[in-house]
Amino acid sequence: MIGALREWSQRHADEGRYSPVGIAFHWIMAALVLFQLGWGFYTGLLGVGGDKVAAYQVHSAVGLPILVLAIGRLGWRMLIPGPHNDADEQGIQTLIAHAIHYLFYLCFFGLPLSGWAMWSAYAEPGPLHLGGVLPWPQLPLDQLPLTLRWAIMDIAGDVHSVLVWLLAITVPLHAGAALKHHFWDRHDVLRGMLPDIPDEPLPRGGSRHRPRAPRSRSNPAAG
Ligand code: HEM
Ligand code: HEM
Repeated sequence: MIGALREWSQRHADEGRYSPVGIAFHWIMAALVLFQLGWGFYTGLLGVGGDKVAAYQVHSAVGLPILVLAIGRLGWRMLIPGPHNDADEQGIQTLIAHAIHYLFYLCFFGLPLSGWAMWSAYAEPGPLHLGGVLPWPQLPLDQLPLTLRWAIMDIAGDVHSVLVWLLAITVPLHAGAALKHHFWDRHDVLRGMLPDIPDEPLPRGGSRHRPRAPRSRSNPAAG
């Protein structure tokens, strides 16, 4: 089974592409994380009251699936290596890009876990639901002394804030680098993370698709 999955994904990796499963994980989680960042900051601005509590219910309902998806994605990523692409040949830039990917994985776990801890440490935590539908338990903090629960809330709050700010800085860097590789360097890296949409065949059986020529000063045809 695992061998068959690896073989199937290797066919995509050989073309410099992530597998459809890797692509689905990437874009679904990117959408959820971006929503969480925007919604989290918006919620922080609301005055104390019922609207703020309801907004945090939405925040937790959307954030908890990120934890579940993170477990699946990490498992998938450990079984199925990503493709080797043009952007893997850029020395220090490649190292930074890979460090940012590790940081993202840290956030995929650290943000929901610290949010869950904060929520469970409140004196009277409200109910949690995965995706707003499936009941999700509180962490078992209710028997701890109140002072310890406040300490947990403080530490978890600090972890949450640090990871939020790390994401707010690195996501634009990551997306900007992907766009620069695509539009400026003409590398294949973004294409490898987009769904493979077959070209419309030309009437005589040809294809509109042209391989992307790398941009280089010594190649006047490129660009
Ligand atoms: C990737 C997932 C998540 C992201 C990106 C995220 C992002 C944020 C952001 C941007 C804020 C506002 C920070 C501020 O105002 O300084 C926030 C606050 C908060 N988040 Fe999350 N969050 C995530 C997951 C979760 C989850 C799953 C829960 C609960 C189960 C949660 C609970 C909270 C709470 C309770 C606060 C208020 C913190 C405070 O007032 O000190 N978060 N989050
Ligand atoms: C919150 C938003 C985002 C997050 C958390 C995120 C996360 C990640 C992670 C963890 C990887 C490594 C692949 C893996 O190991 O699973 C990755 C790769 C990639 N992402 Fe994102 N991403 C986000 C947004 C974007 C956006 C907006 C773009 C395009 C403009 C983009 C383009 C790419 C590309 C091209 C790769 C492949 C890089 C390579 O193979 O070297 N990502 N992303």
